[in-house]
Amino acid sequence: AGCSALRRGLLKWYKQHGRSLPWRETRDPYRIWISEIMLQQTTVKAVIPYYERFLRRFPDLQSLAAASEAEVLQYWEGLGYYSRGRNLRLAAQAVCERHSGVFPSELDAIQGLPGIGRYTAGAIRSFAFDLPAPIVEANTLRLYCRLLGYDGDPRSTAGQNLLWEFAERLQPRVNAGHVNQALMELGATVCTPVQPACERCPISRYCVAFAENRQAEIPAKKAR
Ligand code: ADE
Repeated sequence: AGCSALRRGLLKWYKQHGRSLPWRETRDPYRIWISEIMLQQTTVKAVIPYYERFLRRFPDLQSLAAASEAEVLQYWEGLGYYSRGRNLRLAAQAVCERHSGVFPSELDAIQGLPGIGRYTAGAIRSFAFDLPAPIVEANTLRLYCRLLGYDGDPRSTAGQNLLWEFAERLQPRVNAGHVNQALMELGATVCTPVQPACERCPISRYCVAFAENRQAEIPAKKAR
C-alpha cells in the first residue's frame, strides 16, 4: 500500500528503457544465479562473454556439480575473486545433495548455499520464481537512500535495517521479478552516483532527495 503508484511508474519506465541482457531473457534459477555471482564484483560488459562461455561448458547444475574445481576455475580465469568460482561448484553440489538437484525457491534455503548472501538470494527468488523478496545492493542502496532522503551511513546497522525494510515494502505480490529488475536498472542507469539524471527518472515525484535537491549529498560517503 502506498507503493503501488511508484511501482506502476517504475514498470512502465522499465518496459521502455530497460536493457536487454542475457540473464533477463531466462527464468532458469541456475542461469540467474550464475549471472548474479559474476556480477558481484564485475561490470555487466565484462561479465557477458564469461557468462556465455561458462554456460556453454556448464549448461546446468548437474554439469557444474560434476566438474573438477580446476576446470571451473579455468572458466573463471580473468574474473578474479576466485572464491566465487569455488563456491559456485560447492553450491551446485549442495543443491544436488540437499534439494535433489532442484534449485530451491525459499529465501532461507537459497541463502544457505555457499557464496549466496541476502541480496543474491532475493535476486534469484524474485527473478527466477517471481516471488517477493527484498533486494539491496550497490545500485538499489543508492536509489533507496535518495528516495527516503536518508543521509545517515547506509552501511551502519541502523541504515541496513532501514534499507532492507524499505525494500520489503516495495515488493508487490505479483511481478516481483520485474519490479526488482526495474529498481536495479533505475539505480544503474538513471540514479547514478555522480550527476543522476533526475529529469529522466519516472519516480522523482516520490524522491525526498530530489525534492530537497540533495542528490549529490545522498547517500552519505564512506567514512574515511
Ligand atoms: N548487477 C547485478 N545484478 C544485475 C542484473 N540482474 N542486471 C543488471 N545488473 C546487475
